[in-house]
Amino acid sequence: MQKFFHIVTYGCQMNVHESEKIAGILAELGYVSCEDISKADIVVFNTCCIRENAENHAFGNIGMLKKLKAEKRGIIIAVGGCLPQQMGKAANLHEKFPYVDIIFGTHNLHKLKDYVLLKEKQKKAVINIEDDNGIICEDDKPFRTSYPNAWVNITYGCNNFCSYCIVPYVRGRERSRKSENIINEVKELVGKGYKEITLLGQNVNSYGNGTDEISFPRLLEKIANIDGRFRLRFMTSHPKDFSEQLAKVMADNPKICHCLHLPVQSGSDVILKAMNRKYTSADYLEKIEILKKYVPDCAVTTDLIVGFPGETKEDFEATLNLVKKVDYSSAFTFVYSKRDGTVAAKMPNQIPEEVSKQRIMELVELVNSLTRKHSQHYVGKVVEILCEGYDEKKGLYLGRDEYGRMGYFESETDAIGQFVNLKIQKANGVSLMGERV
Ligand code: 5AD
Ligand code: SF4
Repeated sequence: MQKFFHIVTYGCQMNVHESEKIAGILAELGYVSCEDISKADIVVFNTCCIRENAENHAFGNIGMLKKLKAEKRGIIIAVGGCLPQQMGKAANLHEKFPYVDIIFGTHNLHKLKDYVLLKEKQKKAVINIEDDNGIICEDDKPFRTSYPNAWVNITYGCNNFCSYCIVPYVRGRERSRKSENIINEVKELVGKGYKEITLLGQNVNSYGNGTDEISFPRLLEKIANIDGRFRLRFMTSHPKDFSEQLAKVMADNPKICHCLHLPVQSGSDVILKAMNRKYTSADYLEKIEILKKYVPDCAVTTDLIVGFPGETKEDFEATLNLVKKVDYSSAFTFVYSKRDGTVAAKMPNQIPEEVSKQRIMELVELVNSLTRKHSQHYVGKVVEILCEGYDEKKGLYLGRDEYGRMGYFESETDAIGQFVNLKIQKANGVSLMGERV
């Protein structure tokens, strides 16, 4: 009889790709993906703990499965991702949700097959968040669901220890995959017809650090030299590791998109120091200048946090000023979330919620106004987008241009996977509406 799996993913792109790896493992075990959770024989929650609300959301949803478990005794419920990887959280999850059958982490995701087979045989829950000494598993056969886009991990973990961030604690030290393995994976994906490759890591531009591997710019160059028609993107970069060499490689290789995600987090030097970001706002602006010298049309996006402990009105204004100066094409904005075990969690002067709320609203308004302004510049122009999907509700195809801007259009024929020229007629905030030309 056919067995079904259903995966619920929380958090970032890294997690979305890890869910593809989980799906690959379940497919190898004979399970088939299903949309309807009540039809599933195995449900996996791939969690994220980077901010408290992502964590609470996962906890809430796991709680709701108690009823399903009672109705369908044979169902296997698994919880993975970085939430169980936090100190004491796996035990906490098991205690709170005794009907969860498997608890695993990000380090041992590749062992999920063994855990499912074990659980199919035994009554007892399988709980394992072992570290595996930071081994990189090269046997994954992800079940990719996002054609024509494909994500490829190049590094795992992070060594930066930004004072607010839990990632280094739950994902461990930075490890780089072998360049040969990365290049072979991209060649295979391009051979299979994937048109956009995004290299993934918490800090991609420190790739190879402390090893005898090639540098990140060299890796990018080598990948950009692979034959075939495809676009190349990468995220996330840390400003301290952004180099002139990287800007040159971006300028010289047409397959590399002119688009850079460079999280600044704050525009205040006092806050940047307290965040342990290892650069000042002047250093950051200098990097942007270098980037624009080589890639003048580069779209820059960022991550911003408001309400970090001790953030004054002046610190917040410095963030607003920096946002205006860089003129970001878009940005992810977050309210600081206190994470146990991080340095910032013990800092005095935690900011009251009302103050953070007010600041985030002001920041979002500014970011949206910049995004709208950038979108308006597109009207009347012809852009090339890579069609990546069909929006059922809108009845329109959609895709992104090389700068990451989303464009919608009508098409009589299936356009997914094609590079399409669009004449932009209208800009709606973050997205564009165009006509195929
Ligand atoms: N609170 C708020 N935002 C955070 N981020 C990471 N940790 C926290 C936290 N504790 C944000 C940063 C990072 C992005 C992935 O998530 O902006 O760049
Ligand atoms: Fe977290 Fe900083 Fe590492 Fe990004 S660079 S994952 S914010 S510690």
